[in-house]
Amino acid sequence: MVPFSLNLPNLFMIITPSDLKTSDVVHPTTGQKWVYSDVARDHFFNPRNLMLKDPKDGEYDAVGVVGSPACGDVMTMWLKIDKADERIYKLKWRTFGCGSAIAATSMFSAMVMENGGRTIDEALKITPQDITERLGGLPGRKIHCSVLADKAFRKAINNYFRTTHQHQRIVVEGAKVIDTVLNITDRDIEEAVLEGATTLEEVQNKLKVGVGSPESIPELEQLIRFYSEKYYDG
Ligand code: FES
Repeated sequence: MVPFSLNLPNLFMIITPSDLKTSDVVHPTTGQKWVYSDVARDHFFNPRNLMLKDPKDGEYDAVGVVGSPACGDVMTMWLKIDKADERIYKLKWRTFGCGSAIAATSMFSAMVMENGGRTIDEALKITPQDITERLGGLPGRKIHCSVLADKAFRKAINNYFRTTHQHQRIVVEGAKVIDTVLNITDRDIEEAVLEGATTLEEVQNKLKVGVGSPESIPELEQLIRFYSEKYYDG
């Protein structure tokens, strides 16, 4: 498997060939090693429900496209939905993302398609932690990759609600400004947590948020707790 840390422009640690023989990922600064589980490897090498060709116009009932601010990679997901019982009977996806994104999205698609397909409401209950658990874990710094599936799916469902005129069911996560001095939003905090910053100090190291507006700290701490629980502890 590709040692992902080698793609990073700044290597602060010397990673030896023996590190790469014994691990799939080596953290470039801490040296922390990670070996993917057999389940994650299987989903990476044999991705389920992957679609490389473009669908025909109108072939699918919904589409969702998202990009990851953390790495710039993109995920597209297409759905076919039975209008009578809202069962998702076909889910296809394609990504320009890393191995973790491929394995996580493949697992997500398999979970949605289990037992003939989940309904929209059932599928919306699948959390990023459920996916990570079924994969036997992912490296902490790869959590933002696994969340791409969830975000693309939610966007596709909103697209379905829009095209079927169910506007009241659309869920839009609006960005709220937390630090009015630096204009930093809750989305920025979410991304920082997804990139592995889970304490106030770590988030501030990344964003300087709250440094010039101490009144924003309580809300900031609350958001860090919320997103940490959402993506890591759930
Ligand atoms: Fe971009 Fe994983 S690094 S999806």
